[in-house]
Parts: sequence; C-alpha cells; structure tokens
Amino acid sequence: MIQKLKIFLKDLKKNQIAIRNGQQQIWASQKLQTLFKNEVFIPQTSWSLEPETILHILNIISIKKPKNIIEFGGGVTTLYIAKLLKLQNYKTNFISVESDVDWMLTLKNQLCDNDLISFVSQIHAPIETIDSKYSYKNQQTWYSTAAIEEGIKDISHFDLVIVDGPFGGSTPYARFSAMPFLTDYTSIKTTWLLDDTNREYEKEIIREWTEFSKLSCRIFKRYSVLEKNSEFDLSSLKI
Ligand SMILES: C[S@@+](CC[C@H](N)C(=O)[O-])C[C@H]1O[C@@H](n2cnc3c(N)ncnc32)[C@H](O)[C@@H]1O
Repeated sequence: MIQKLKIFLKDLKKNQIAIRNGQQQIWASQKLQTLFKNEVFIPQTSWSLEPETILHILNIISIKKPKNIIEFGGGVTTLYIAKLLKLQNYKTNFISVESDVDWMLTLKNQLCDNDLISFVSQIHAPIETIDSKYSYKNQQTWYSTAAIEEGIKDISHFDLVIVDGPFGGSTPYARFSAMPFLTDYTSIKTTWLLDDTNREYEKEIIREWTEFSKLSCRIFKRYSVLEKNSEFDLSSLKI
C-alpha cells in the first residue's frame, strides 16, 4: 500500500513538472510572438531551440548588449535575434554559421522576407575533418575552420556564443570544437550557451568547457549557460 502511494506521488510530481514546463514554453512563445506581427509565421520544428531558450538568449542580448555575437546552427534563433537587433536599433555584429547550404538559403529567404538580412552575416562553413588541436576524444568533424576564419576576420572578441550545431549525430562530440577554436576570440567576459546538454555528449562537452574556461555553469532542462559568476540571472520566468 505504502509502495503504491509512493509510486503515485512520484508520478504526480513528474506530471506537475511536465505541466509547469509546458506552461513555461507557452508563456515564452507568447512573449516571442510579440516581436513579430501576428501575420508572420515563424517555423518552429523539433530541431529549433525551445522558446524558453530563445527568450533567455534575447534577455542576454537586451540586458548585456553584446557587441559581437556568433551562433553555430541557424534557424528560428537567427530570425528572432535579427528582429530584436532591428527593433532595438542595436549596433551588434551578428554572425550565423551554417553547414547546410540549402538550409542557409532557406533562412536567407526568410530573413529577406522579413527585412532582416542586413542584421546578420551568414557564413557557409561545410562540415570537414577537424584538426586534432580542436577535437575531443573520437570527434572526427566540425565546421570548416578556414571558412569561419575568413568570415570573422574583422572581429577580435565575441561577447556571446550560441552553440546549436553542428547536428549532434554527425560525429561524437560534434559541438566540442567551438570553444577551443574561439579561444583567441573570447574571454572571461564571454557568455556561452550550449543546447542539448540533456544528451550524453553535450553533457560531457559542457563539463570540459566549464573546466577549461573557469566560468560558472548553469544547467537548465535542455541547455546550459557558461558565464562569469557575478552576472544577473537572465533565464526566462519560472511560473
Ligand atoms: C539544431 S539545428 C539548429 C537550429 C537553430 N538554432 C534553431 O533554433 O532553429 C542544427 C542544424 O540542423 C540543421 N537543421 C535545422 N533545422 C532542421 C530541420 N528542421 N530538419 C533537419 N535539419 C535541420 C541545420 O543545418 C542546423 O544548422
């Protein structure tokens, strides 16, 4: 009897967490929708960052006003960030690195349709074999470093790095190289956001990055943020 009651209470708690998570995502979606007029449809797929994560990124941008932002893996994030930069008139350089040329062109069309293309510099960086100085364990590939170097040659420091690519299944530890590759372009002042840290490879990546960077790590349901200890809490509202 007691055992049955324990199982019931455990299930109840799980359901309550799931409901609260759903409410938070709905709240975040509604908040994001205010950026675009209702007649614009922003595609949101299972590959997209969750609304709560996007809102956290937009909070970081509007409070910290980063001068230079780089994202790995374009999509709805690119549209929302560009829209915020436009609306708020921020003088921010925003670079979006994408490996898939068709996806990049689709995104470019959406940026053009919404009059946002001038707020993003897209870099096409195909997936290639990665130099061992940037790889981790049995990781084989990452974005073309030559293509990225060319695209960021005028930038000396990134204040915000968003890592949601390459596609996690492309190689083990597919996203690891962002931090070693950007070492000379980042500092203790940089905020890092890595998505999918509920997955085993990304969990290990964030552990390694935390140790390497000496920044503080906050782990959320599906993503993690690395930043200086003293920063404000910019995660989106908990209901
Ligand atoms: C996790 S996705 C990046 C999603 C992006 N940050 C967003 O929030 O929309 C990583 C890569 O998968 C590819 N991708 C994006 N959406 C996809 C989809 N719906 N189906 C298949 N591949 C997709 C793109 O090449 C992208 O760079």
